[in-house]
Amino acid sequence: MEKIALRDIDNNDWDFILDLRNSSFEFFYKQNIPLEKTEHYEYMKRQSINSKFHHWIITLDDNSVGYIRILENDVGIMIKKDYQNMGIASKALQLVEIKAKELGISKLVALVVKDNESSKKIFEQNDYNLKMFWLEKQIS
Ligand SMILES: CC(C)(COP(=O)(O)OP(=O)(O)OC[C@H]1O[C@@H](n2cnc3c(N)ncnc32)[C@H](O)[C@@H]1OP(=O)(O)O)[C@@H](O)C(=O)NCCC(=O)NCCS
Repeated sequence: MEKIALRDIDNNDWDFILDLRNSSFEFFYKQNIPLEKTEHYEYMKRQSINSKFHHWIITLDDNSVGYIRILENDVGIMIKKDYQNMGIASKALQLVEIKAKELGISKLVALVVKDNESSKKIFEQNDYNLKMFWLEKQIS
């Protein structure tokens, strides 16, 4: 059985995280174009001093295959395309709950774009309850 784990991040992982962000942004609410490296690095620098930001690389047998972060209570996950649908995100979510508890976080929230079936499924499978519908209208 291959081993899924979370490891700490250092600055050498920032490009890996950027690649993940830019290969899956169609599922993000706020990002709708690829992110420039400078913008990403500024974001990572800013978050590295944010006490409410926690993140890890997801590994499969020591290979980096994904990324998971908690911002305040909001949990976000990205898995490399070649490794999707193997149960990795679901396992990473279970591992991050252990980390969150150690950090004193008592509740996690997932914001999932409407048509992101895969994301919806991992949170439902891990006992996250639907609490809100988000409706919006472009008016100008
Ligand atoms: C969402 C994401 C993290 C899931 O990662 P993953 O490792 O593939 O997830 P898992 O394999 O643990 O589970 C995915 C589940 O969704 C199911 N699934 C995949 N596509 C689906 C679809 N179109 N409709 C319904 N279910 C679907 C899979 O069969 C699997 O369910 P199963 O465990 O019952 O077989 C990954 O697809 C990803 O990185 N997407 C891009 C970034 C993103 O959207 N992140 C979420 C933001 S919170």
